[in-house]
Amino acid sequence: PKPNLAPTPPMGWNSWNKFACNVSEQLIRQQADAMVASGMKAAGYTYIVIDDCWQKSRDADGNIQADPERFPSGIKALADYVHSKGLKFGLYSDAGSLTCGGRPGSAGHEFQDARQYARWGVDYLKYDWCYTGPRNPEAAYTIMAKALRESGRDIVLSICEWGNSQPGRWAPAIGHLWRTTGDIWDGWKGKKEWSHGLLDIIDMNAELWSESAPNGWNDPDMLEVGNGGMTATEYESHFSIWAMLAAPLIAGNDLSKMDADTKRILTNAEVIKVDQDPLGRQGRRVWREGDLEIWVRPLQGGDRAAVLFNRGDKPAEMAVSWEQLQLPPKLKADVLDLWSGKKAKAVAGRHGGTVAPHGVLMFRVSPGVQ
Ligand code: GLA
Repeated sequence: PKPNLAPTPPMGWNSWNKFACNVSEQLIRQQADAMVASGMKAAGYTYIVIDDCWQKSRDADGNIQADPERFPSGIKALADYVHSKGLKFGLYSDAGSLTCGGRPGSAGHEFQDARQYARWGVDYLKYDWCYTGPRNPEAAYTIMAKALRESGRDIVLSICEWGNSQPGRWAPAIGHLWRTTGDIWDGWKGKKEWSHGLLDIIDMNAELWSESAPNGWNDPDMLEVGNGGMTATEYESHFSIWAMLAAPLIAGNDLSKMDADTKRILTNAEVIKVDQDPLGRQGRRVWREGDLEIWVRPLQGGDRAAVLFNRGDKPAEMAVSWEQLQLPPKLKADVLDLWSGKKAKAVAGRHGGTVAPHGVLMFRVSPGVQ
């Protein structure tokens, strides 16, 4: 059986969105240091994951080798360093002959690679889907899942086949998270080759709520918060919807250079608490009209999270109704605004306010004991 390594969605940092193939041991050490110094670790972020391009070649025995110029001290030393900071360490590979960046993939080397990862101290593997030819994804990911289990080390398996084969049908038995779409890019909307802006990613994830559960999460891709392509308001929307989706929160920015908004958004404790809610039920879009939509997520103990989302270019007056929250209309509840921190006592029927263009209002509604 699959080890229970992700009772709540994994939180961490990954090199790809900001640095792509520009990875090195100095960068990874710097990001691990910054994870601690910035307060990201204290906020719950744990995994430091090197994405593509750390690999160079295989030796005569087929053992995977890190790029000796970029990682001269080797992966073991780097994993030890990350662990010394109280963090966990992740790597990337691919189920095909090559990774998407053209480095050696794990096809035919799954057990050898998993044993190597275990020796190095790897805690998390992102496993991609380039150069797989006619391979069946369920079968291919099952082999790596077995290899990881037999490696003797607890290793989270992050499945990355971009939602092509409806992974929600088979991935929950195998992996701890699975990508539901092609790549995200750091912009509000639109498609660029195989990647999608924020609104497109959200739309592709809105109906997948039934497939996600503790220890097996839908992954709408890594965060772009702080990468500069969107406004602070848009990044608040991005982070809020990821929390409603019970998405893995994998930061993709430069942790050593965060402005105040980036830090404020990524470390918002109340929004993170929604994402990490132990009930582990993904939120749903319960209402949509034009550019306006309402999302609701049930939380442990009877609380609800609600997001009022305005995709349009003008401010909008919006409210969530108790019916949408599936609460009796006269039931009194306390409401916390998760971005402003404002509290409202004993509210009933509906609650709302003015939602900024491209922005959200996000509430935690607590009926409590009446
Ligand atoms: C694919 C994945 C990305 C990233 C790159 C690396 O595009 O979907 O998240 O890992 O490969 O090459």
